[in-house]
Amino acid sequence: MKIAFFEVEEWEETYLKEKLKKHDLIFFKDELNKKTIENIKDVDIVSVFIYSKINKQILNKFEKLKAVVTRSTGFDHIDIKECKKKKIFVFNVPNYGENTVAEHTFALILALSRRIHKSYERTIRGDFSLENLRGFDLKGKTLGIIGLGHIGRHVARIARGFEIKVIAYDIKKDYKLAKKLGFKYTNFNNLLKNSDIITLHCPYNKKTYHLINSKNIKLIKKGAYLINTARGGNVETKALVRALAKGDLGGAGLDVLEEESIIKEEVQLLSKNFPKENLQNLLENHLLLTFDNVIITPHNAFNSKEALQRILDTTIENIQCLIKKKKCSNIVK
Ligand code: NAI
Repeated sequence: MKIAFFEVEEWEETYLKEKLKKHDLIFFKDELNKKTIENIKDVDIVSVFIYSKINKQILNKFEKLKAVVTRSTGFDHIDIKECKKKKIFVFNVPNYGENTVAEHTFALILALSRRIHKSYERTIRGDFSLENLRGFDLKGKTLGIIGLGHIGRHVARIARGFEIKVIAYDIKKDYKLAKKLGFKYTNFNNLLKNSDIITLHCPYNKKTYHLINSKNIKLIKKGAYLINTARGGNVETKALVRALAKGDLGGAGLDVLEEESIIKEEVQLLSKNFPKENLQNLLENHLLLTFDNVIITPHNAFNSKEALQRILDTTIENIQCLIKKKKCSNIVK
């Protein structure tokens, strides 16, 4: 098979060459577009990331394309209808970072509970005093998880190891899962009232826009912590800033901020095409940065070696599945 890969980094090229030895591979650092397509019209498979727009015009140029394999979860950069018409399969990578984001959630929780950020700041200055560095135990605390999907359930699993009591709110209930992981479902308001730490793992949509807002933030237990690794828009920033300023919240761990609307999916942040100065600006301008009980990470929860490797491995599986004409699970329908 002749396969063209677009938007690939060097380490990916090396890995793909090793894993797909039998095939004729072509690599491009840039995206697939009207220009770059000229030399690869005769390929069987094309693998892209989200900056390659696979529209009708591009698809018409291929002579015998069998599949578009995107190395992303989202596929709105591909004209699926047109692919169907032309009998071209489209593959994606549905999940790759469930435990990864859950682990980052605990990195934020532990950094806040043991004041790791403040300790680090101090010791690099050669100051080993303990003043204002007293933390709190996680054992025996109540963690409220909002959204028990792929990521939320890993958070519940990890919490067990700390002997944390987990309560959960989700619009869909999975009682088998609750029994297995030892958590209890509750309603939204109860979760806010009873949690020592609240962590968000629901999607961002019309219904979850400002899910935590100036009205309901008052319900949160005084001194509780809020962790957000979902999407910035799930929390009304103004309400968060006010609650922190008044001392109603004990602190916050945020991997995402409200202004990040340009981010469709995480791996986009690693692309050379992503305007990184936007992130920097929004971080710099953010009032949240001024609180010493707030930790902000730059939308980095997904970014582990293993998670990125899983994207590549799933892409290889997708390609091999197509070649072997097996029943493939990652075909976009
Ligand atoms: P998922 O779709 O597996 O789970 C989402 C869960 O939220 C589902 O159980 C769903 O029923 C529930 N839910 C939907 N609407 C809700 C509502 N109104 N209230 C409460 N629960 C609701 O999604 P997954 O993979 O667990 O990811 C969760 C979110 O994490 C993603 O939507 C994404 O925004 C974010 N994310 C962040 C990353 C990062 O690097 N910071 C990386 C990957 C995902």
